[in-house]
Order: sequence, then structure tokens, then C-alpha cells
Amino acid sequence: MEKILELKNLHVSFDTHGGEVEAVRGVSLDLKKGETLAIVGESGSGKSVTSKSIMRLIPNPPGRIKEGEILFAGKDLAKLNERQMQQIRGSEISMIFQDPMTSLNPTMTIGKQIMEGLVIHQSMSKTQARDRAIELLKLVGIPNAEARVKQYPHQFSGGMRQRVVIAIALACNPKILIADEPTTALDVTIQAQILDLMRDLQDKTGTAIILITHDLGVVANSAQRVAVMYGGQIVETGTVDEVFYKPEHPYTWGLLASMPKIGSSGEDELIAIPGSPPDLSDPPKGCPFAARCPHVMKVCEDHMPEYTELSGTQKTACWLLDERAPKVEKPEAAIVGGAK
Ligand SMILES: Nc1ncnc2c1ncn2[C@@H]1O[C@H](COP(=O)(O)OP(=O)(O)OP(=O)(O)O)[C@@H](O)[C@H]1O
Ligand SMILES: [Mg+2]
Repeated sequence: MEKILELKNLHVSFDTHGGEVEAVRGVSLDLKKGETLAIVGESGSGKSVTSKSIMRLIPNPPGRIKEGEILFAGKDLAKLNERQMQQIRGSEISMIFQDPMTSLNPTMTIGKQIMEGLVIHQSMSKTQARDRAIELLKLVGIPNAEARVKQYPHQFSGGMRQRVVIAIALACNPKILIADEPTTALDVTIQAQILDLMRDLQDKTGTAIILITHDLGVVANSAQRVAVMYGGQIVETGTVDEVFYKPEHPYTWGLLASMPKIGSSGEDELIAIPGSPPDLSDPPKGCPFAARCPHVMKVCEDHMPEYTELSGTQKTACWLLDERAPKVEKPEAAIVGGAK
């Protein structure tokens, strides 16, 4: 499959009073046409910073892209100026956030907000843009679209607002949609509807999606591939099946063991990973998970492991995969975790 986005060795830091916070430390990943790639990992692992970097939405100062490339359509987005980036943002690459209220302007009608991008990026006339706005509202499942375009965000429920945000994001037929915890703020039934809607729209438009989520259940239902982030790095990546059924990184085992099992009665014991993530103002020189890893070895503390290619699609950075390492049994909870 054709790659439409490629991150190469991305490093992003924030300069704070406490020193440099190395939020993203050498992330490489690619996104293929039409697929959904999920990025999972605990709070603070660098998921949002990675995705905001793609959109060049990291505030500078205090943030800066220190190193690396963000290749899109033959261009390195890391090197574009703000004017060039404005032509891409919202048109070729769109982003939606957790809280739809922060992405909508409370003082402007829904219609105007959808039309804005169409007028700027697609040089539509007002009438054309209004017609397209109504069409988009229908597409995202908002009833009575002709009347709804004239209303303001506060007249919409949370779920309906997120539908509007999706309509705005998809207005210009972007090649990539970045969705950062798009359903976290919504209640469970609405979450499912929004995810269904995103899948349905993806089938129609072929937009590739980067889906950031804490919820491995969402990953299983919505994504084809997963990247597991920890301490600003990707520790494991693979297809959903590989990461759920054949995880090789102890952090992935921990994540799977700490989530409710799909279809379970809710009586399974959930095992949280003890300890806390590394301090990124003084990042560990070895594996970021070493301090919490039940299988930690001396080498893990001193050297970051290289990726081991386990298949054409699965890559894992863990010293346990080195031939000199002892064989370790995968914990039962991790293997069935989330999968059954
Ligand atoms: N403006 C900022 N100034 C300083 N540090 C920042 C800033 N924004 C993010 N960071 C740091 O970057 C790291 C990664 O943050 P990020 O928001 O990407 O985490 P995340 O994986 O999205 O977490 P969550 O699941 O909570 O959304 C964190 O250590 C965070 O404190
Ligand atoms: Mg985040």
C-alpha cells in the first residue's frame, strides 16, 4: 500500500523553567492510504505532541521540532513556513480533538464554520459553500440540516457537536484525518455512534486516519495497525492482530492486562502497571520502560534496544528479543487481554 505520510526520527522538545522536556524522542512511523493507524499509550507518552507536530500546531516557544522529517506528498512539513502550512492544514490534513466545544467557535453559526474552509481552500462561492455545508451535515447524520446550519454550537448536544467537527474536518476531502481521543468526552453509546460514523465516512472517502486513544477496545474495532508509545518513543508497532495476539513488548503486555477484556462479564481482574512513566526532562538513557519492567536486565538500563523486525509489519524494541536474553513467558493476562 502506498505511504501517504512518513515520520522519520521525529524529536520534539519543550523548553521549560525546569529544563528541556523531551516529549517525543525519535518517532518513526508511516501511514498508508485509506488505513486507520491507532496510537496508544499512557498519559504523557507523547501521542498528542506527535500528532500536533504533523499539523505543526506545537506552540513555539516553548515547543520545537528538534530533529526529524514529516514527509507528506513529497514535502517535509517540518520545514514549511506558516503560510505554506495553512494551505495544508484543514485542507489536506485535518485534525479533531477530544472536546468539540474547544474546536468550535461559540459565536459563529455552524454553517459559517463549515463554509469557512470551503471558501478559503476550495474557492467556492457562498451559495456553493452553503449547499455543501448542508450536504456535509446530512453526511454526518445531522437531521434537519437546512435549519441546523443556521444554529450555534450551544444548540447542539455533545455528540452532535462532534459530528459537526467531523463535518468541518472532512469538508475539503483531506487525505489524512488525525483524531486525538475523539470520543473520550462523550458517553459510551454516543462514542460508538461517532466511531461508526468515522468508519463509514472512511469507507466513502478513503481518508487515512490516525486515531489516538487510551481505549484498546476502540483500537480493536476501528484500526488496522497500532503503534504503542511509551516515554516519547514507539516501543512496539504491528497490525491489530499482531499487537493483540502476539505482543512482544512487556509494556504492551502491561497495557493489555490493564484493560477490560472484550465481551467479559467485567469480573476479570485488571492489573495496573505499577510505577510511573519516566521524567522526560531527564529521560533514561536506556529503554524508557526499564524502571517498571518486570523483566528488566542490566543492558536495558544502559542502552535503548534497536527494533527487532518480527514480521513485515511488526517491530518491537526490547532486549528480550536479543538472542542473548533469557526466554521469558508472556503473562496469561496479556495474551488474552483485550483479545477475547
Ligand atoms: N506546552 C508544553 N510544555 C511543556 N511540556 C509539554 C507541553 N505539552 C506537552 N508537554 C509534555 O510532553 C509530554 C507528552 O505529552 P502529550 O500531550 O503528547 O501526551 P499524551 O500521550 O497525548 O497524553 P494524554 O493521553 O494525557 O493526552 C508530556 O510529558 C507533557 O508534559
Ligand atoms: Mg493527548
